[in-house]
Amino acid sequence: MKIGKSELETVAVKPGQYPPEDMYEIAFAGRSNVGKSSLLNLLTGRKSLARVSGNPGKTRTINFYRIDDAWRIVDLPGYGYAKVSKSVSAGWGEMMEKYLSSRPNLLKVVQLVDIRHAPSKQDVEMYDYLRHYGLQGIVVATKADKISRNQMQKQIKLIRDTLKLSREDVVIPVSSLKRTGQDVLLDEIGKLLEE
Ligand code: GTP
Ligand code: MG
Repeated sequence: MKIGKSELETVAVKPGQYPPEDMYEIAFAGRSNVGKSSLLNLLTGRKSLARVSGNPGKTRTINFYRIDDAWRIVDLPGYGYAKVSKSVSAGWGEMMEKYLSSRPNLLKVVQLVDIRHAPSKQDVEMYDYLRHYGLQGIVVATKADKISRNQMQKQIKLIRDTLKLSREDVVIPVSSLKRTGQDVLLDEIGKLLEE
């Protein structure tokens, strides 16, 4: 699958602000700074559709991007950012939980993890949560340019084991910097949208 047109449709912090439930949505979840917004830019082929930053906590709202007037990519705020206060981080959690648990047109959540590290406790919790709602199945291992080809299989196995992935779950190494892996991910998403 290829993406033609993409645009920011809605920015929301609560359900009343979500766009209509008229199109399937694929959301990106993962810790702050893992590369969710960069992945959106990579998939859409637009350098600065979503704002990217080296400072964690860049995306603080639920951002709905309309793709080819047919489906949406939803860029979620990251979790696990230590520098925000407990109350702010609880607010984000609630905002995400509301979206993930109550959105009928949410088709799948792509879980992002950094290819260099074992998934964190929060990554594991997030994936368990997705499993609970039947939204699991696609894991993107970001920043693939940061490790060697040799290390790749070892890191993917570490991710599979830590998140307790099943055979059906896919792990896709992606580099937004080198622009690799996006075709595999887009084909997986394409399959879901066709079903
Ligand atoms: P929050 O909005 O805070 O949740 O972060 P995010 O997950 O949206 O991360 P973002 O896309 O803003 O990227 C965070 C940092 O990682 C930026 O400095 C990016 O340039 C960098 N980055 C993202 N993807 C890659 C990648 O594939 N390779 C490398 N080397 N750096 C990347
Ligand atoms: Mg972001």
